[in-house]
Amino acid sequence: METITGTDFHYAAQLLLQDEVVAIPTETVYGLAGNALSEKAVSTIFDVKNRPRFNPLIMHLASVADISRYATISATALKVAQHFMPGPLSLLLPKKDNVPLLLTAGSDKVVVRIPNHPMTLELLRQLPFPLAAPSANPFGYISPTTAAHVAQNLHGRIPYILDGGPCTVGVESTIVEVTDQEIILHRPGGLAVEAIHQLTGLPVLKAAATVKPQTSGNLKSHYAPGTPLYLGNIEALYAAHAGKRTAIISFYRDYHHLPGTTSYPLSPGKDLRVAAAALFRVLRETDSGHYDAILVEQFPNEGLGIAINDRLQRAQHLHK
Ligand code: TXA
Ligand code: MG
Repeated sequence: METITGTDFHYAAQLLLQDEVVAIPTETVYGLAGNALSEKAVSTIFDVKNRPRFNPLIMHLASVADISRYATISATALKVAQHFMPGPLSLLLPKKDNVPLLLTAGSDKVVVRIPNHPMTLELLRQLPFPLAAPSANPFGYISPTTAAHVAQNLHGRIPYILDGGPCTVGVESTIVEVTDQEIILHRPGGLAVEAIHQLTGLPVLKAAATVKPQTSGNLKSHYAPGTPLYLGNIEALYAAHAGKRTAIISFYRDYHHLPGTTSYPLSPGKDLRVAAAALFRVLRETDSGHYDAILVEQFPNEGLGIAINDRLQRAQHLHK
């Protein structure tokens, strides 16, 4: 199959209407989209990604008003939806019967999200069905934040990549379940959970890692580059890799003075949003740089730093 990259969302819509899968831009990461109500399209998504079918997919909608067509939403959850959607937030809600169990991996709950990208919002408005869209990477690898990243991994496996430019947020959506007592955090992501706490006044709890079905946010090894990645104190990691060719990924400090290493500060201006937007691109760049190891420092555990640390922890795990 030939893979075309372009900006023709009418063509993308035509393919989706024919039950094909298409890569789409969002503000977080690129998604691999198909008709969420079609078992054939959803199956194709699992196959192309090589993703285990116990790992459910997010349903993407055009508007908050559409949520109640597919899920039951409480007044508190609706308030959160109205405030933060479209945006990098996904809500776990009780599903309605029209949502296929293949999409939710057998769960009676569905995750819904409204991506904040003009091209994809227009696509969703034109389609008569919602879109299932996991990140458009092979299962377990680094998520794509440009159309070129998608092409690198999925060329020849999908007919079309809708190019909406680089993702502005750069990490996947925050996934929460909102009850009347608390916010249950299933995956930290592009919306800082502090903001949901501020809106609702509700405490934020971390979902237990044993919750089923597991979110791949909960799978221990994910987002992993092929090059061994070590997370910790840069001086100590550098000393432990003496004589090796290393890449150093840091928040804002520059380490180019250290011999044998290439320094990748994600945000010299110390902005966690800028760092998040650069994270997956730099992980891919360093992974293809023929380094012996990628050394990464821990980010401040606040705002988008929480999502960055979460992805880095999973990226290192395979090599422990
Ligand atoms: O930003 C995003 O959310 C991106 C873009 C493309 O929208 N999508 C994304 O999808 O990150 P994916 O499939 O890579 O991650 C979705 C996460 C997984 O960890 C999955 O297990 C969890 O959401 N999830 C989806 N439906 C669920 C459900 N019914 N119950 C529990 N977890 C669910
Ligand atoms: Mg993913």
